[in-house]
Amino acid sequence: MSTPALRAHAEQQFADELAALVRHDDKPKPPNWKLSPWAVATYLLGGELGGEKISAKYIGQRRVIEIAIATLATDRALLLLGVPGTAKSWVSEHLSAAISGDSTLLVQGTAGTPEEAVRYGWNYAQLLAKGPSLEALVPSPVMRGMREGRITRVEELTRIPADVQDSLITILSEKALPIPELGDEVQARKGFNVIATANDRDKGVNDLSSALKRRFNTVVLPLPESVDEEVEIVRTRVASLGKALEIPAEPPALEEIRRLVTIFRELRAGATADGKTKLKSPSGTLSTAEAISVVNQGLSLAAHFGDGSLRAADLAGGVLGAVVKDPVQDKVVWQEYLETVVKERDGWKDLYRACRELS
Ligand SMILES: Nc1ncnc2c1ncn2[C@@H]1O[C@H](COP(=O)(O)OP(=O)(O)OP(=O)(O)O)[C@@H](O)[C@H]1O
Ligand SMILES: [Mg+2]
Repeated sequence: MSTPALRAHAEQQFADELAALVRHDDKPKPPNWKLSPWAVATYLLGGELGGEKISAKYIGQRRVIEIAIATLATDRALLLLGVPGTAKSWVSEHLSAAISGDSTLLVQGTAGTPEEAVRYGWNYAQLLAKGPSLEALVPSPVMRGMREGRITRVEELTRIPADVQDSLITILSEKALPIPELGDEVQARKGFNVIATANDRDKGVNDLSSALKRRFNTVVLPLPESVDEEVEIVRTRVASLGKALEIPAEPPALEEIRRLVTIFRELRAGATADGKTKLKSPSGTLSTAEAISVVNQGLSLAAHFGDGSLRAADLAGGVLGAVVKDPVQDKVVWQEYLETVVKERDGWKDLYRACRELS
């Protein structure tokens, strides 16, 4: 038997839910969509349908997801914007899985993303043997999305050099990709659209040109509204990651997750939850995604070097690592928080001691 993939694509992992949605979906579908917009929203936000349970992938405002889905049914592309760890990539993966049944048409944006990644390249052996021909052409994920009428994802759009970004303009406005070498073009099939993600902390890296901006509808993914919402996000993600990684630990106590989320939120906000004490914020983002990793790492420690249940000592190292990104300034911020907040809080003595031992 072959070893299973470390991480399954959304459409593989949730194949059963997607199949159930297809069975029960009687609402109108945009051309070449696997599901109606309503069913796509149910897939993302969770719910029950014909007695079958659909898990929530995104926890947060329903409207945000509805606007994102509605955009994809128009001729405008979707830009998911937000601070790090607000589930931009996660939502983009699940949207493509639900709409096109395929989340793998992906361009990863970096400072070195070449134009070939957005348009097409050439297989040089074929090019030399046969000259410019369709067989020698290597399509980009965007070109494949156009041909197949599927959603294509562009991750970290603002990191891509401006001239390469601009090659998206024709594609998004004409819905065609010219191939001058062959005197030919690829016309997008119905169902094609683009979901791009960008981080608003990276602002100014390669700001979108206004021509490109006009072709996108921007949807901002917010930070979780309340402690409860953020605790729920961390709990569900940790549960499913723990299962996938087969970490032999008990599910973490909700109280432990709540403490961690509280620390992250207070430091992010620069004030304690009751608003009474002002705090300095560390240089890092302390995102929900980091909270998920800290709990996960703690669980692994508890499983392999502890008694299998998550305790303060298993979390302390991860918290310190997440908060102290700059060894000088952040250390001061953390020490102050430890001594003024953690030490004084009812029921937090174990956490205080565990953190003190480390620093
Ligand atoms: N509101 C939310 N609902 C469900 N999961 C969430 C939510 N917010 C964050 N997460 C989880 O956080 C993790 C990180 O999300 P993701 O990588 O998509 O963030 P991102 O916004 O793309 O960050 P970056 O800017 O660093 O690329 C995912 O595992 C996701 O499940
Ligand atoms: Mg991302």
